[in-house]
Amino acid sequence: PKRIGILTSGGDCPGLNAIIRAVIKCATNNGWEVFGIPYGTKGFIDLETGQCQPEDLQLREHGYDLPSLLGGLDILQFLSGSVLGALNKGDPSDPDIAREILQGYRHLNLDALIAIGGDGSLDIIDTLAQQGNWQWIAIPKTIDNDVPFTEQSIGFDTAVNTVTKALYDLTFTAASHDRIMAVQVMGRDAGHLAFQSGIAGGADVILIPELTPCLSERLVDQICHQISRLRQGGRRFALVVIAEGVRRPDGKKDSHISDYLAQQIQSRSQRLCDSGAPQFCTLQEVDTRATVLGHIQRSGTPSAFDRLLAARFGREAINLIAMDKYNQLVVLENGEVTSKPLDQVVPQVRQSHTDGRCPDPVDAQGLMVQTARD
Ligand code: F6P
Repeated sequence: PKRIGILTSGGDCPGLNAIIRAVIKCATNNGWEVFGIPYGTKGFIDLETGQCQPEDLQLREHGYDLPSLLGGLDILQFLSGSVLGALNKGDPSDPDIAREILQGYRHLNLDALIAIGGDGSLDIIDTLAQQGNWQWIAIPKTIDNDVPFTEQSIGFDTAVNTVTKALYDLTFTAASHDRIMAVQVMGRDAGHLAFQSGIAGGADVILIPELTPCLSERLVDQICHQISRLRQGGRRFALVVIAEGVRRPDGKKDSHISDYLAQQIQSRSQRLCDSGAPQFCTLQEVDTRATVLGHIQRSGTPSAFDRLLAARFGREAINLIAMDKYNQLVVLENGEVTSKPLDQVVPQVRQSHTDGRCPDPVDAQGLMVQTARD
């Protein structure tokens, strides 16, 4: 029988607990022991410094206090967040921290560690693995859906549903007041969440960093033209979705880029209207509002898709360990669950981290996505 550890690293997302449940179930079926490491790799430091003991961390099929009140392990898949706690900081490049983490890992005498994480976590765990003999399996999770080699990461589908619902809800208040809503969607430097939920939620314009890295004047102009076309057709409200990774015209990040967008649409519409060109007369009294959807996008009970994917990913992680096949990322490829060697995945993760350049705003031309409502 094997001794395995499991941790959740980086920001939380819906579906983490569903993976934990699947891992406990499959491992217990094999007669293995499972240890839950609290707060990502920080849990190893706590072990090393004596703040917790190995026996405190053992996860048993009926060993959870909170869920056992409600029906044992099976309730876990419905809960958002992570029962192990998640920490989105960690600096293994500090040799003292790395040493403590690795000592804590050895202290537990594990055969393998399952790390549920996003691209930042993959980078951290791989850095640790380079420094010590560390056998691990990674399972991709993030609402940003930006982990390479997997078609989908855990949490993304639920987040798409959450944002889609928010757009639906915003439609009615926008329509009642003839307003233009600028809605900011998470995703860090990726536009997948904004793009998919924007289409499903009926957005009129979707701005994602992959196509419109910066909010140039020209881009704002095109958005106003689109609003003007809608108004000529009789529709006075509009939803403009902007991914948080889209930057200001000078290339700077803005944590409230939707405020900036709303204000730019308002003033530019006014100027176009004042120009007297007949096609812009509909832009009179454009009224804008900004909404930052925020961390609500990381919560909510996991969708059925995420729960199923979590069960499949968890089982695959256990199968890989049973075959002594380590240092793999579990992925979804062509709809099938399989795995990729981490030495193939991690260089790609590091490459995308260094690629935050914003092109000349003039180049960031009108590549905005116009949706079916147009
Ligand atoms: O990576 C997931 C994510 O939710 C991003 O979409 C967002 O930019 C970031 O994490 C927010 O992080 P924090 O929880 O530290 O505010």
